[in-house]
Amino acid sequence: MQMLKEAIVRNGKAINQDVLLVDSFLNHQVDVALMEKVGEEFAEYFREKNFSCVVTIESSGIAPASFTALEMGLPLVIMKKQTSRIMTGDLIQTTVRSFTKGTSYELTVKKEFLTPGEKVLFIDDFLASGEAAFGMLHLAKSAGVEVAGMGIVIEKAFQAGHQRLVDAGIDVYSLARVKSMSENHIEFLD
Ligand code: G4P
Repeated sequence: MQMLKEAIVRNGKAINQDVLLVDSFLNHQVDVALMEKVGEEFAEYFREKNFSCVVTIESSGIAPASFTALEMGLPLVIMKKQTSRIMTGDLIQTTVRSFTKGTSYELTVKKEFLTPGEKVLFIDDFLASGEAAFGMLHLAKSAGVEVAGMGIVIEKAFQAGHQRLVDAGIDVYSLARVKSMSENHIEFLD
């Protein structure tokens, strides 16, 4: 997606060969006009598949997933990383480890928001090694729902996530695939 690649080149900053800062338009300050286009692009690609809802993980997946859900006319379910006393009822949980951040969290969703047999579209901001995506797949399986597509805003194609998901039979559509990066240069895969 050309508009996204231009935003990454113009406003993104590779702090080293592995981590891309995009907090000026994606995950701290948010360019909502760009997110609207992101939502349109995902909706266009996944239109044929008859999904029943869009699923994401808090917090940075929420903006692109909201615009996708709006464009597709579908409900949005946000998987939580933190639970609280008011989060009661039947919960499904799995532990996800983030290699980029060196942290772990309990990915959690209420059973009542995923109906067995439904077909969901997962949207997230980044795909690196795929741990969050596989955590989501694990929860979906426990809930009896099918993840029939994954839309990723920025994929770090030099990490293993994409291939792992394709090997697991998932239709992955990434809007910008970063092949490599250094302080002054970001190269994309076509
Ligand atoms: P994985 O899920 O694909 O394995 O990725 P990994 O564990 O390596 O990283 C997960 C977290 O790190 C996610 O944020 C993801 O957005 C973020 N992340 C990964 N690579 C980058 C990067 O190059 N730049 C930036 N800015 N973030 C990156 P999270 O923990 O889910 O946090 P949140 O922002 O969604 O709350």
